[in-house]
Amino acid sequence: MKVIITKDYQTLSKKAFDVMKEVIEKKPDAVLGLATGSTPLGLYALMAEDHLKTGRSYRDIRAVNLDEYYGLSPENDQSYRYFMRHNLFDKIDILLENTHIENGLAADPAEECARYNALLAAMPRDIQLLGIGENGHIAFNEPGTPFDEETHTVKLTESTIAANARFFKSIDEVPRAAFTMGPKNIFDAKKILILATGKNKAQAVRGMVEGEVTPDLPASLLQKHPDCILIADSEAASLLEGDYHKAE
Ligand code: F6R
Repeated sequence: MKVIITKDYQTLSKKAFDVMKEVIEKKPDAVLGLATGSTPLGLYALMAEDHLKTGRSYRDIRAVNLDEYYGLSPENDQSYRYFMRHNLFDKIDILLENTHIENGLAADPAEECARYNALLAAMPRDIQLLGIGENGHIAFNEPGTPFDEETHTVKLTESTIAANARFFKSIDEVPRAAFTMGPKNIFDAKKILILATGKNKAQAVRGMVEGEVTPDLPASLLQKHPDCILIADSEAASLLEGDYHKAE
């Protein structure tokens, strides 16, 4: 895993944008695996700003998202589909029909998981963007998820429900289940870019980079990926013991 430590979140977002830009410049019809959560917001803002200023086009870009709450419609302002439109898709010229996310209202969840796995197999991702949970989760793959798991439904843990409650009016409104790509789907991406910001991620980052590779810390699987970049700000990287590249 290539590790880049930045002094702050703004620099992290700029470095992440450089990685994303390189993928898009090399391949204007690249498949981008995208994530929600607070961490990629700086990157998405830079993509939107760059599109506005330089006219960089996303018309041939395709996007697949990691996960979606179960039971929320795409129009619900807490759905990840809504998040992606609001924070990125509506601010660039990507075609909505080229953006994919699990259907939170699917009547048959098992069928929806199979549909999504087939879609991922047909659209190999050139890059997969990730954030990391305080417990080392990636997407909604909580500790203990087998590494060979593909898209599946999960019952969210109390800690993930509590962490996500900040986006809802009350904790009771946070859905209790979600669809998520599995560790295997994530690992299949050609390149992985994982971002970590803030002190609350420091323990998970330490385990991911320097700990044992174990399903108890899902992100540790990324140590095995041939092309994985972690960009962490100084707080998220504060417990790392190795000597890593510092970016200004
Ligand atoms: C988002 C996702 C989650 C988040 C993680 C970190 O699609 O799957 O795994 O990446 O929970 O969330 P933030 O960025 O809000 O700290």
